[in-house]
Amino acid sequence: MKKNKRSKNWVIQQHRDQYFKLAKSSGYRSRSAFKLLELNEKFKIFKNCKSVIDLGSYPGGWSQILKKNLKNCKILSIDIKKMSKIEGVDFLCCDFQREGSKEKILKKLNNKADLLISDMAADTTGNKDLDCIRTNALCAEVIEFSINVIKENGVVIAKLFNGTDFLNVKNLANNKFRKVNFFKPESSRDHSKETYIHCAGIRTL
Ligand SMILES: C[S@@+](CC[C@H](N)C(=O)[O-])C[C@H]1O[C@@H](n2cnc3c(N)ncnc32)[C@H](O)[C@@H]1O
Repeated sequence: MKKNKRSKNWVIQQHRDQYFKLAKSSGYRSRSAFKLLELNEKFKIFKNCKSVIDLGSYPGGWSQILKKNLKNCKILSIDIKKMSKIEGVDFLCCDFQREGSKEKILKKLNNKADLLISDMAADTTGNKDLDCIRTNALCAEVIEFSINVIKENGVVIAKLFNGTDFLNVKNLANNKFRKVNFFKPESSRDHSKETYIHCAGIRTL
């Protein structure tokens, strides 16, 4: 391995370890928890939030943050993998992309949500372009779905990769929402292409 590739890998590993240790000592199930805290710091997504959907919730770091920061808020978390119980969090085990899953989610909601957050990423295949396409397809599906499940002034946060199909997702979001922004939390620094889209206010015309 070349020397500067080795030192870059060392920096990435140090960065990962730092957030891993911090998550452990804070009692969070994943270091992703810090990404959600940063996203809230940036966009104030928790303000007046009374109902939230957490897509791709396993192992539960984001759900823990939601529970801790949102009082009297209905939290519905969803993942293909079974997430261990978090008091006050409703969990649905299903594949978001599978036929019938979106209807199941809609059934679980009494009212439309204020916030939809998605940290879903497709399983890695070893082919970075393909992984990027599949995760960005998931992100596009989340944006399409959000129109049916969030309030008109609701907010969406979703993971995507800054690579193939990024512009298609951005255009889709701009067609559906009045405000669209991107933000890469400091705690996600090691995944060079990972970023988050923030969409607010559904376009009605
Ligand atoms: C990066 S992890 C989420 C970490 C989580 N936000 C946390 O803080 O602990 C991504 C999750 O997305 C889930 N996922 C990926 N594709 C999915 C799909 N089609 N339906 C449901 N969950 C999915 C994976 O099972 C995985 O648990």
